[in-house]
Order: sequence, then structure tokens, then C-alpha cells
Amino acid sequence: MEWSEFHRNKWKQATTFAWKNFTNPLVRRMFSFVTVLGKAALPKEKLQELSELVQDMKTTYSTAKICKYDSTQRRLPNGDYDYYADFDAEDNEIGCVPTLSLEPEVTQIMARSRDPEELRYVWRAWREAAGKPLRHKYIRFVQLANEAARLNGFEDAGAYWRSDYETDDLHKELQELWDVLRPLYEHLHAYVRKKLREKYGEKVVPRSGPIPAHLLGNMWAQTWTHTQDLTIPYPGRTSVDVTASLLRQGYMPLHMFRLAEEFFTSLGLDPMPLGFWQKSLIVKPTDREVVCHASAWDFCNGIDYRIKQCTRVTTEDLITIHHEMGHIQYDIQYRNQPFIFRDGANPGFHEAVGDVLALSASTPHHLQSIGLLENVDDSYETDINFLFTMALDKIAFLPFGYLVDLWRWEVFSGKTGELSLNRRWWELRLSLQGVSPPLPRDEDDFDPGAKFHIPANVPYIRYFISFIVQFQFHAELCKAAGHVGPLHHCDIYRSHKAGTLLRNVLSLGKSRPWTEALLILTSGKTSKLDVKPILEYFAPLIAWLKSQNRGEFVGWRVSEAIVQPVRTSNASVITGVILAIVAVVFFVVVIVAVVRKIRGTGKALHAVTQGS
Ligand SMILES: *[C@@H]1O[C@H](CO)[C@@H](O)[C@H](O)[C@H]1NC(C)=O
Ligand SMILES: *[C@@H]1O[C@H](CO)[C@@H](O)[C@H](O)[C@H]1NC(C)=O
Ligand SMILES: [Zn+2]
Repeated sequence: MEWSEFHRNKWKQATTFAWKNFTNPLVRRMFSFVTVLGKAALPKEKLQELSELVQDMKTTYSTAKICKYDSTQRRLPNGDYDYYADFDAEDNEIGCVPTLSLEPEVTQIMARSRDPEELRYVWRAWREAAGKPLRHKYIRFVQLANEAARLNGFEDAGAYWRSDYETDDLHKELQELWDVLRPLYEHLHAYVRKKLREKYGEKVVPRSGPIPAHLLGNMWAQTWTHTQDLTIPYPGRTSVDVTASLLRQGYMPLHMFRLAEEFFTSLGLDPMPLGFWQKSLIVKPTDREVVCHASAWDFCNGIDYRIKQCTRVTTEDLITIHHEMGHIQYDIQYRNQPFIFRDGANPGFHEAVGDVLALSASTPHHLQSIGLLENVDDSYETDINFLFTMALDKIAFLPFGYLVDLWRWEVFSGKTGELSLNRRWWELRLSLQGVSPPLPRDEDDFDPGAKFHIPANVPYIRYFISFIVQFQFHAELCKAAGHVGPLHHCDIYRSHKAGTLLRNVLSLGKSRPWTEALLILTSGKTSKLDVKPILEYFAPLIAWLKSQNRGEFVGWRVSEAIVQPVRTSNASVITGVILAIVAVVFFVVVIVAVVRKIRGTGKALHAVTQGS
């Protein structure tokens, strides 16, 4: 509220200048940002309501817990698991105390369980606990966010968000990028579906339908890294999952953070400042609830920067540390800019920095050089295994990264109305990601709300852009580092030339449009988002996937989705009725028998007493 007050005052002052006529482009750019007020344009009560609403949604999400899966209980008469049992508040017969948090327990089950029923249960339970309660709050949130955007002269909140990118038709540009990348995704999708079908059978995974969303190792099916044990192209050859090594070598979260930092300093970039090490939260505390979703914080005073992450000792978290530290490095590099320019050239750039370094840090040779992998050979199989693992992260993510804000933009614009929020979510999930819900969904559900960035109100298209632009960064930094050979072999470790180029781009902050930052990065070659580097990087894998997918249906038919029917199926109702009748008859017989017995016993007792 204080910040909004301050911003409102500065905004008022700024609007008294004829700033559009200023000749100094930097000053004009500053004014163009100060004169967009954002949510501070709302009247005080509504601003307060909006802030509290987001806080409230975030708390609901972050404190949501689910019950343990119990395969022996909660069976329907037909033997199916009763996914709905925990939540029947009315009958409330099978009570349970929810104890599992998203991080770490639920995430771990999604990653490791290979029991489709358990996965389906957890998948649904999470959406019951975290998504469903947010539905009506989100509807109110959309009204307020739109009202704020309109007070700033935007059509709706989606248009306001897109304005961060200073691009005329962002939507169209992104759609064109996705169209080029889609075939690559479809080949990965077809291959992974085949492998999952081999594991789970055709009754669970369809031959040419979408992949059931609970089987991909991740709560949102957004990255598929945790299907590796089922999908890795050459089992037994080098794989870049180093979780076992980290554990064996006794790595703790702090070591992992130091390891990531060392990559930055090896490029001549800045170390994390002293306060970072004193004040960051890198282990989940046991004495209070915290928002575990990893985040990086700039306290805007040039000395205080922190990461908050409930770190686990896994490969995935090691990559996440690089990601978050990339945010801090960016913050540090632009700290001498005027406050209004202390931001990413665009939000996608901010998300890309740490990932760019991680592209080098996760190559087999790099992991070997730091002692986390042994006996890395230079075979074709090692190469394919590595690229495949990267694709489970970088390619699998693309449609999800794209659709979250497609959905939100449509909700903000009113194209998707209150009564089709969940339906539209699943249309996008089915058509773009090719994943299907494992259980029927309807408008009581609010599945988008079960993803952090929806309740926390963090725009998402930044990740889609990041996943494309980080390969552009990688290609250019590799060139600067003098790398020769395939792009996916490049490791920029210890290259001060690459570090200097990166620093030159980062230190600009938001003082220039991102297109200019890209021009600097690419030595004048391009100012546009470009899919060429990501395609070049994955080229050997694409060829391999195509050969593997011979005879497979590439793509998916939505009509062939396998959705587990629940409860309402006639078969289970009839079985239920029959079982109930049997139970009642049995019960009556038992009662009659018991009553007779008691009467008999009573007589006998009576007789004995009398006899004394
Ligand atoms: C800005 O410049 C234009 C043309 O040079 C002029 O017509 C206009 O009055 C100026 N605006 C202000 C507010 O001074
Ligand atoms: C534009 O303004 C900035 C910030 O006040 C200043 O540093 C810079 O020298 C100015 N540029 C020109 C060309 O006057
Ligand atoms: Zn991030």
C-alpha cells in the first residue's frame, strides 16, 4: 500500500510534463514507465481488496495439503479406487488428516510412483485441495485486475501484461514460433507415449490419443524429466541424472548453491554477496509454513539479494538453483541503473539467465569435470541420452509455457467466461500439450488454480519466451567462448569472453528495448526471437526420434483420450446396489441370530441365578 501511494505521487508529478516531446530517449523511456501506474490506479479500497485477494489465494495454495494414498481403503464396490472418498464432506465416513505438502511429498510421489491409481489419486487430491477453493476468488480477482488495467488505458489485464514486451502483436509472434516448434514436440510426445504404453498397457495409455496427464512425472505434466527411468533411449549408458552422485557425495543444499555460484564467477561474473549467504532461505523450515515455490528477491538497495527455495538434493534442484541465481546475477548486474530500469530487458530474459548457464553446466563433460559423473564416453548413445534428457525438460515444457497465459489472456478479455474456465483450460491442454485429464473434470473444478502462478498472479508467457531465447543466448555465448562442434557439446565454463558478453547485455537492465539487447548479444545479427538455435541444438535428437517413431501415430486424437470413469458408471452402481442388498440381508440374518442367542443366554443366566 505504501509503495502504491509513492508510485501514485510520482505518477502525478510525471504526467505534468510534456514528456513525449523530450529529446533525450533515456529520459523519455523513464517517463513512459513512470506514467503507467499499474494496480496503484485503483481506488484505495479496491487496491486493498486486490492485494489481499492475491495474498489469500497464495496462502491457500501454499498451505494446501492432501491425504496419504491408501490402496487398501476407499474401494468402490466394483474394486476401483474411490477417488472421491476423501472429499465427501457429507458422508464424511472415511475421514483423514491431510499431511502431505506439494513440496516435497506430493512432488516426489508424482516423480517416483509408478502406480497409476496412486498417481491418479494424488493428481486429483491436489486439485481438490489447491485449485477448487480458488475458483470464486479468481473470478473476483479477474474483475479487479481488469479494472486496474483499464484505468491505465489498456483494454484488459492481458493487454497490460503483454505491454511488458513492447511488441505490437505478441500473440501472433509467439504463435508463429510455436507452429515451427510443434513438430518437434509431437515427435517427443509420440515416443514418450509409446514408452509409457509399453509400461502401463493400452488400457491406461492410448495408442494415438493424448497422454494421461498423471503419468508424466510432474503435477502439471509440464516437464517430463521424471519419466527417464521408463523412456531413456539407451538404458545403461551415460545418463545425466546425478541425484545419486549428489547423495553419495554427501552434498547439502549449501554446497549446491556454492557450486552454482562458482559457475558464475568462472565467467568473471559476480559472486553472491555476503548478505545473500546470511539471509537466504535454502532449506524448508519445520517451525512454520512458507511459500516453497522457489523465488529470487532483489531488495533494491544494491546489497541485499536473497533466494527462497525448499532445496532437495536432486539434479532438478541443482538446475533450479542455477535458475534462481541467474535472477540474482541479473539484479546485481543492473544495480547501477536508475530504479525504473532495474528489471529484465523483458521478463523472458530474466527467466533465461540461469538456464543459459545450466545448459553448459548439465553437459556430461562438465558434470564429469566436477566429479558428478564417471566414465563419460563420447558415443552416439551418450549424446542421444543427453539430448533426450534435455528435451524432457526444454521441449516438453513449450506448449505448457505457451498455454497458461493463452488461457489467462482469454479470461481477462472475457473471451472465456466464468462458466467455461475449466473447460477452456482443458481444451488448451488437450489441443496444445496433448495431455488428458485422468478423471472427468467439470466447472466445479478449477484446475488452473492448482498451478502456483495462477493464484500468485505471476505471468507465465515469460517462461515460453525464456525457453526459446536461452538457446539464442547459449549459441552466442558459445561463439564468444570459441566453441567448435555441435551446439549441445558447448560448455562456456571459465570463458571470460562469454561472461563479458553476458554482462554487457544484463547490465543494461530495462534501459533499452529487448530487441536492442538482442542486437548486442548477436553482434547485430538479429533483434528477434529465433527458434534456429533450439532447432540446431536438438537436431540429432529430432533425427533419432523420427526413426524411432516409424509406425507410430505422431500427434494425437483428442477423441481417443482415456478418462477413468468414476462412480456414475452403471456397472458400478448396479454392483453397488446388489452388494448393498446382500449386506442388508446378511445384517438382518446376523441380528436375528444374535438376538436369539442373547435371549437364550439370558434365560440360561436367569436359571443359574435362580438356582443359587
Ligand atoms: C509536443 O510537440 C508537438 C509538435 O512538436 C506540439 O504540437 C505539442 O504542442 C507539444 N506538446 C506539448 C504538451 O508541449
Ligand atoms: C540523457 O539523460 C541521461 C539521464 O539523465 C543522461 O545520463 C544522458 O547523458 C542524457 N543523454 C543525452 C544525449 O543528453
Ligand atoms: Zn524464475
